[in-house]
Amino acid sequence: MTAEIIDGKRISTQIKEEIAEEIKDLRKRGSSVPGLAVVLVGDDPASLIYVRNKKKACEATGIESFEYRMGHHTPQEDLLKTIQWLNQDEKIHGILVQLPLPKDIDTGLILESINPEKDVDCFHPQNMGKLVANTAHLVPCTSAGIIELLDRSDVKIKGKRAVILGRSNIVGKPTALMLMHRHATVTICHSRTEDIEKITREADILVAAIGVPRFVKGEMVKDGAVVIDVGMNRLDNKLTGDVDFDEVVKKASLITPVPGGVGPMTIALLMRNTLTAFKKQLGKENQR
Ligand code: GUN
Repeated sequence: MTAEIIDGKRISTQIKEEIAEEIKDLRKRGSSVPGLAVVLVGDDPASLIYVRNKKKACEATGIESFEYRMGHHTPQEDLLKTIQWLNQDEKIHGILVQLPLPKDIDTGLILESINPEKDVDCFHPQNMGKLVANTAHLVPCTSAGIIELLDRSDVKIKGKRAVILGRSNIVGKPTALMLMHRHATVTICHSRTEDIEKITREADILVAAIGVPRFVKGEMVKDGAVVIDVGMNRLDNKLTGDVDFDEVVKKASLITPVPGGVGPMTIALLMRNTLTAFKKQLGKENQR
């Protein structure tokens, strides 16, 4: 079997077009529009690329983008003050603090200082709790992007066996929760899992998010499985996924490439979260 490629770039463009339509409508009706603040501390090269892509996505959708660049040695207090100020600003509906932050800054404290209603990354413990309870408005962008890829490729989730490689707060755990809420039977594997191949071979849907280049080999995949590669590893200066694409493409029925798979979806879903946050905040304002 040779897998069909899931084109994340095309699907993400479709989602951004849907958002752009809604925002065009808002402008036509004389409404305010969503605003996204992106805060970048330092000049990590990968983060600079992410931030540039987020700005481009804002331009494509009509979301107003506000960028805050702060020096690598910015005191934590100054970053907290910036966030408090953005929390109050009515033009800003979403706040994203680009990670990783410099070592001297307490990341947990910073993420908790973001107004949960503006937490478009869904990293605030309150939003993570809501995700566990399946009552969340804002959803983690990468995980929501994975679900969209599956839905828009007509992959049935209900009743299927999903295996997630990786247990991070940003991808592994929320993806497992969201697939479970969609009635998949979910297993999370990680660096200490014994006999990992035995488990991955049972997966109808296999999500690789461990950060080890080309970890998933052909023999680890069931014939006809759907394989989602979240990996973004630099290998010989090339972006390489967690899946050995050339091997796995021969076993899977559907597979995401790297680049052009999950990556663009994360940004599209960030735009959607910003629109969702805007609508919720606007609704509250109108009730006042
Ligand atoms: N750094 C890498 N990916 C992300 C992300 O999705 N959100 C934030 N805030 N920082 C990141």
